[in-house]
Amino acid sequence: MHTKNNKLYFGKYSSTTLAKKFGTPLYVYEADVIRQRYLELIKNMLYHKFHIHYACKANTNISILKLLLHLGAKIETVSRGEITSALKVGFKSKDILYTSSSVTEEEMVFVIKNNIKVNLDSLSQIELYGKLNPNGKIGIRINQGIGAGHHSHVITGGVMSKFGIPLEHLSQAKKLAKKYKLQIVSLHQHIGSNVLDSKILLKAFDKLLETAKDFSELESLDFGGGLGIPYLPKDKNLNLKLLGQEMTRKMNNFSKIYGRELNMILEPGRFLVAEAGTLLANVTEIKTNPKRTFVGINTGFNHLLRPAMYGSHHEIINANKIKGAIIKVDVAGNICESGDVFGRDRKISKPKVGDVLAIKNSGAYGYVMASRYNSRELPREILIGKNGILRSI
Ligand SMILES: Cc1ncc(COP(=O)(O)O)c(C=O)c1O
Repeated sequence: MHTKNNKLYFGKYSSTTLAKKFGTPLYVYEADVIRQRYLELIKNMLYHKFHIHYACKANTNISILKLLLHLGAKIETVSRGEITSALKVGFKSKDILYTSSSVTEEEMVFVIKNNIKVNLDSLSQIELYGKLNPNGKIGIRINQGIGAGHHSHVITGGVMSKFGIPLEHLSQAKKLAKKYKLQIVSLHQHIGSNVLDSKILLKAFDKLLETAKDFSELESLDFGGGLGIPYLPKDKNLNLKLLGQEMTRKMNNFSKIYGRELNMILEPGRFLVAEAGTLLANVTEIKTNPKRTFVGINTGFNHLLRPAMYGSHHEIINANKIKGAIIKVDVAGNICESGDVFGRDRKISKPKVGDVLAIKNSGAYGYVMASRYNSRELPREILIGKNGILRSI
């Protein structure tokens, strides 16, 4: 996205043109941004058996899945629906990982039938998998007590988290694997989401390497996702260079001790797609009370849940007039809930009814979490490439 004539542009299209052509609310995704993030990750992770499995829960738009497939990404899924989308787009079974909690037998049968690699989340999942597919190869998701993330809802390590097999139960996990002649070929962890501190990611990395020494049949180590992006103006970018150097060095050292080189997997979701997405909405009304000014727009937390669910910050700008007389407002949605507010005390160039507001960094956990609450329609999505509109869905 860029600014031209004081308006917000995506490629050669102004946001107002897109808003008119496709209607609002509209999710606009930029293919270039996804490509850049993917290449940035590849450039920094120099360990030669490094693989990216895109955590598609962040955004399952088919055009985005296709783009990532063409870039060379593999994929991580958490449901039958995500596996089906991945297969439909052309990901090979061997490149699809499945990591889920509270799995039904029916879903596990589907996973096994489709030869999808699993990271089992509990002792009971190992038991279930063993009964259904004895002699198979499995990965296990472990919870090493290290958690991090932008909100308690997304911290997935530690005793308060429902995820993973705790270290204390690993010997039972091994026993179960033995009972069903399962080979544990991968250890997986995911400590949480939107982590901007490379130190905590590296601490968890070290801990997994330590644990891995007790497993002799490993083929892969999967460090999950969680790579953060700067939502707040004060946020600093994750230090990818340091992360890449350190992870590479640590993997190389580990290979010497372990006696073999294992695959190293990361499962970024947000990092690849968050900054590529913008939610456009029209201003429908501006109302005041003695203390505040509310700018009402034609979308709500039914389309972008993050602010209401996590108190997340998304930068909001007036796409019709980026620079202008500034006013302090609360940007509110059109859902009948007082918590339906995208931002309080936001300083934006004074909007009028009909202007387009752009809610930035909405590419991850945006549309995928949308609902039809209040019986409103789902928003539309388009993907912009260098030469125009690649695809609208
Ligand atoms: C197992 C697993 N891998 C990867 C991710 C992706 O996380 P992020 O989007 O923060 O990279 C998640 C997110 O919940 C997850 O649960």
